Amino acid sequence: MTVVRVLGLLSGTSVDGVDAAAAELSVDGDTLRLRRLGELTVPWPVALRERVLAARSGAGIGAGELCRLDHELGEVLGEVAAGVVARLGTVDLVASHGQTVHHEVDHGKVRGTLQLGQPARIAERTGLPVVADFRVRDVAAGGQGAPLVSVLDQLLLAGRSQPVAALNLGGIANLTVVAPGEPALAFDSGPGNTLLDLAMAREAGEPYDAGGRRTARGTADPALLAVLLADPYLSRPPPKSTGQERYHAGYLAAAGAARVGLDDLLATLAELTAAAVAGDVGRYRVRRVWASGGGVHNAGLMAALRRRLAEHGAALATTDELGLPVDAKEAYAFAVLGWLTWHGLPGAVPSCTGAAGPRILGAVTPGAGPLRLPPPLPAPPRRAAFSGP
Ligand SMILES: Nc1ncnc2c1ncn2[C@@H]1O[C@H](COP(=O)(O)OP(=O)(O)O)[C@@H](O)[C@H]1O
Ligand SMILES: [Mg+2]
Repeated sequence: MTVVRVLGLLSGTSVDGVDAAAAELSVDGDTLRLRRLGELTVPWPVALRERVLAARSGAGIGAGELCRLDHELGEVLGEVAAGVVARLGTVDLVASHGQTVHHEVDHGKVRGTLQLGQPARIAERTGLPVVADFRVRDVAAGGQGAPLVSVLDQLLLAGRSQPVAALNLGGIANLTVVAPGEPALAFDSGPGNTLLDLAMAREAGEPYDAGGRRTARGTADPALLAVLLADPYLSRPPPKSTGQERYHAGYLAAAGAARVGLDDLLATLAELTAAAVAGDVGRYRVRRVWASGGGVHNAGLMAALRRRLAEHGAALATTDELGLPVDAKEAYAFAVLGWLTWHGLPGAVPSCTGAAGPRILGAVTPGAGPLRLPPPLPAPPRRAAFSGP
């Protein structure tokens, strides 16, 4: 049983920071064994974050700035990676998602997706091979290039007797539904924290509603909620993906959010996320949902979710219960995606992304020495087992 040490790196749509998670991965029969070595989140330097947000808004950023951002983000990722490698001693490879700055969907088809964080910078800093650019191959095969975390969710939730789901409450809320005897399904359910964060930044000058205190204090505005729930994205069948290209400040303004006070607006937005997720949960008769992502720390959002899920007879838990810390699940997912590519195995699940078939994802940048890939594994693992540090 060959053990490979992989460092997963990720910055999500919230652009809050670099999530890093290191794992020892090996296969045992049809089980992928993942031993957690440790995880951390390093906030982006404030000025760099501002530039990412500006680039993402599409406000006339040229190729020069995109190029500089690619390298500067890569430098920070490399620094974070080098720190982890120094602490752990040995790591075999880095799997880096980078930072999405553009994900363009046109009539349900993805025209392109761009993640920045130059892998050569990470390879130079660490001397390790780097697998990056995970989404583009799935997009080239007709898929959404998202949600890629579904490959881990599918392994995590395999073998249950009832339909269950994993929910990630990042900037966007995405769900993976696993039902016995059926191919897994995954899609972006709708906005997660992104609109909440926008409202907080604009009205309170803070990046998010710490603990969800204001969200919990507010009362949802029925008229605004009705407008937001009429969003055609929410009723579109999967596969589907979305992002800040859709859910931005202009989106809130067009819905008439300005007339609602901040606490009530936050409560309304939490209700929107909860209602969208609950609608999907009802549609697929899901009995239990394990949540992860920063939104788990918003008590108001979690209360709304728990209440709405209960209406569909579904229980809410967090991935902590499955042995995966809520703030590190996605970074571990990218460690798994890197490991799959390293072993010649497909990373995206076609039933989840809508791609024409399973594809080996990513581009590999050599480390200090020549690339020495292990022999490809004949078949992907069918389940996963996790153990703690
Ligand atoms: N302590 C907290 N209280 C409330 N919300 C939080 C807290 N910590 C994180 N969040 C929310 O989670 C978001 C980050 O979640 P994350 O899972 O990293 O999303 P992404 O994958 O989009 O980066 C923040 O922008 C914020 O909305
Ligand atoms: Mg994040």
